[in-house]
Amino acid sequence: MYTIVLIANFTMKTSYRFLYSCRNSAFSGFAPGKCHNTLINSSSDFCFNLNSSREFHTYPSRISGFGPIINETYKVFRGPELSCGQSRVLSSSCRGSVNKGVSSLIGRVVSNVRNYSTPSVETRVNEKNFERIYVQGGVNVKPVVLERIDIDENIGREEGYKVEVDGQDVNKTNSESVNEVVGEVLSPKREDSDIEKEAWRLLQSAIVDYCGSPVGTLAANDPGDKQPLNYDQVFIRDFVPSALAFLLRGEGEIVRNFLLHTLQLQSWEKTVDCYSPGQGLMPASFKVRTVPLDGNKSEEVLDPDFGESAIGRVAPVDSGLWWIILLRAYGKITGDYALQERVDVQTGIKLILNLCLADGFDMFPSLLVTDGSCMIDRRMGIHGHPLEIQALFYSALRCSREMLTVNDASNNLVRAINNRLSALSFHIREYYWVDMKKINEIYRYKTEEYSTEATNKFNIYPEQIPKWLMDWIPEEGGYMIGNLQPAHMDFRFFTLGNLWSIVSSLGTPKQNAAILNLIEAKWDDLMGHMPLKICYPALENEDWRITTGSDPKNTPWSYHNGGSWPTLLWQFTLACIKMGRADLASKAITSAEKRLSMDRWPEYYDTRNGRFIGKQSRLYQTWTIAGFLTSKMLVENPEMASLLFLEEDYELLEICVCALSKTGRKRCSRVAAKSQILV
Ligand code: GLC
Repeated sequence: MYTIVLIANFTMKTSYRFLYSCRNSAFSGFAPGKCHNTLINSSSDFCFNLNSSREFHTYPSRISGFGPIINETYKVFRGPELSCGQSRVLSSSCRGSVNKGVSSLIGRVVSNVRNYSTPSVETRVNEKNFERIYVQGGVNVKPVVLERIDIDENIGREEGYKVEVDGQDVNKTNSESVNEVVGEVLSPKREDSDIEKEAWRLLQSAIVDYCGSPVGTLAANDPGDKQPLNYDQVFIRDFVPSALAFLLRGEGEIVRNFLLHTLQLQSWEKTVDCYSPGQGLMPASFKVRTVPLDGNKSEEVLDPDFGESAIGRVAPVDSGLWWIILLRAYGKITGDYALQERVDVQTGIKLILNLCLADGFDMFPSLLVTDGSCMIDRRMGIHGHPLEIQALFYSALRCSREMLTVNDASNNLVRAINNRLSALSFHIREYYWVDMKKINEIYRYKTEEYSTEATNKFNIYPEQIPKWLMDWIPEEGGYMIGNLQPAHMDFRFFTLGNLWSIVSSLGTPKQNAAILNLIEAKWDDLMGHMPLKICYPALENEDWRITTGSDPKNTPWSYHNGGSWPTLLWQFTLACIKMGRADLASKAITSAEKRLSMDRWPEYYDTRNGRFIGKQSRLYQTWTIAGFLTSKMLVENPEMASLLFLEEDYELLEICVCALSKTGRKRCSRVAAKSQILV
């Protein structure tokens, strides 16, 4: 199957020519190896162009060979057979140049269209389903970029034909124009304080270059650290606050490069003991390595880690979700919507969504994952349906729905997104939410109810309510619990998931406000001397031994087990601004500001109140630095914050796809349970 994409700008003469093709070498005229290179060019225009010579190299210690690639059916980046545990690396030489002119114009025009259009909703009711299809751009808005794409949504990144207009690839903007656009967004209101100046300097020095262009930031950059492990890599999740800091400062290039390079890595073959995860997985991190070539030459290669090297071999489920969230943020802040409209970028979004939306054995709309699949990337008893992943999943679905180009080929996907969003928000709002009243309900639950009408659907035994919670839960306020499984509620408070429930409107407006009320009421526990506890409370004694597997890094009130992570500050700030509680954000920033620089920007703090720099904490941790800067900028520019969060979508509340109520079987618990919690 071929993907044919025609792209034209209405305002230009349309002289088309094929830019690249792949998989069908006869059609494209490229030799297999070249074709492979050419495809990369499509997503990496800043570093390469058609004239650049790019090759796939085998990274000496890990790659077994290089051979014909083109004949794979859909894993287009897939190479020859690898031996177990190996992964492939991408390498390139760096002779590219950047197109100018046309792209800049397009970035601005598209941006304007987006600014003035609102999504329209087309409603269709059929016998089984009540469907809503969102049409991007509104009914009266003509798309600036005309695109016909024919991608089978069940398969991966396809070969494509892009068409240039007047010799320009209209499907991209160049980094210069991006920076031009961004530069207009935020003008500094005051001079940076000394601490901010230091933070900017440190952030700048953490930048990683690839082929002479910035592509990310190191996780930590402590010159005194002789054993950096993988902290000398660019982590996808860690880069998000760096990206936002750069974007808010008017620097879009690094973010654009990061998005495009990680997109390439997405298609990499990755194996752990001869088994490959689904295509579309984004790496947890990547490293730029320099590989020696013949004749005193060397070359840079990107070496991704999909979990096959990570401690515990954890799957980075959150990486793809963060990538989508960042892609939307990039478009919103820079106005460069052309990036998200690119065929390869659209396909990247679809691949991630296909992985997340694939049918399985699940009974719940929440995403089933293993332990350690997110920011908490070690065993902490969060396998199953952890809140953090659900909140990021919901955010990524909403971001994707905004960004996907709607056409015949994507209609089904958009429908699936809407259905999932609606089911997921119902599920989380109804079953993850706890406050005083709900805990009292659980306390009086009957168990062993066999029926579709059961109140205690998950057969939660009231004895599970932990003692600490009975005393801790305030009269006002509530939160989303950490996890829900059959006969299991994890009542721990996980900060990131709760904050993203607010930011993405996964929670109802009332719930979102109540989460912040709880944080305010429990300030000493959750903020202490250094914002913000990653979770509360810590697992202790036998619980720690069984749940963490006696992990010496995750001892009580340390690291993931109740440690305090300053990077969470930016997400807290965003949530506070959204809910009109910037006062809380300022209070937290002020307390962080007192210590971060003095303590050399630690990764995390230990003890119940966050008084000590963490036992094994890295210093000069980049997301601590970037999180601080981003928080400062957001609080001073709330209008920028509003580009990053998502408001309640009332249409979604109306969608119930199960259609049981319509058949008269009355089994749809969603319809029955439309408690006031949903409003
Ligand atoms: C730790 C954190 C993880 C982070 C990584 C790099 O493993 O748990 O969330 O991405 O360090 O900073």
